[in-house]
Amino acid sequence: MVILDRVVPFGRSKAEYELMFALSESDRAKTIIGIGDGPASFNAEMTAAGYQVTSIDPIYQFTGAEIKSRFDACVDVIIEQVRNTPNNWTWSYHKSPEDLRANREKAIALFLADFERGKSEGRYLNAELPKLGFQDNQFQIALCSHLLFLYSDHLSFEFHLDSIRELCRITQEVRIFPLLTLAQARSPYIDEICRILGKEGISSEIIQVSYEFQKGGNQVIIFRQ
Ligand SMILES: C[S@@+](CC[C@H](N)C(=O)[O-])C[C@H]1O[C@@H](n2cnc3c(N)ncnc32)[C@H](O)[C@@H]1O
Repeated sequence: MVILDRVVPFGRSKAEYELMFALSESDRAKTIIGIGDGPASFNAEMTAAGYQVTSIDPIYQFTGAEIKSRFDACVDVIIEQVRNTPNNWTWSYHKSPEDLRANREKAIALFLADFERGKSEGRYLNAELPKLGFQDNQFQIALCSHLLFLYSDHLSFEFHLDSIRELCRITQEVRIFPLLTLAQARSPYIDEICRILGKEGISSEIIQVSYEFQKGGNQVIIFRQ
């Protein structure tokens, strides 16, 4: 059971997802599941553009007002932390801490405007890794931004392995970004997970992408079964 007070409900936009996951037009046209999408505006913007995205996150059990109030309670602290650690960040997509804040405000506003309708259409589902109640290969592609690997200091190796196996069960392809932890180090789990899943017939490929905010965080990993 997720406790909202422990979640940082910061969401990214469709433009950021497209860069983080190197999404081509043929990728966008697939049935996509967003894992831990939180208050990202990816689903809202993709739906408005005619694409098919389902998002899962345990925070979808809360109301939009509750999610927004948690965002409001964290945003100053997070932006201050970013401002105090300027060398940890690459100021290319986001131009400054103020610009980052404006981009996060815009994403959550687009998400909130779409949340009730999206819930009624089954596009925002309250569910959480490591087990999801979908059928085998129900989706073509899973995107997981800023959850797996990023929280390696909080979520165990077994949680990661079970979660990625589960995502490979319900999709043909799983993309995870970034490969860095919150402490900006490469997740210690990656090599062992690739080795174990490789023996189960799941291939892995790491590619460089043209999005970088955490310094050095410009790679996505793609698992395929
Ligand atoms: C930092 S946010 C990232 C939001 C979004 N993916 C993005 O990049 O804009 C991490 C999200 O993961 C969600 N989360 C935490 N534990 C989860 C779990 N076990 N399964 C799915 N989502 C989870 C949180 O509720 C939160 O919304």
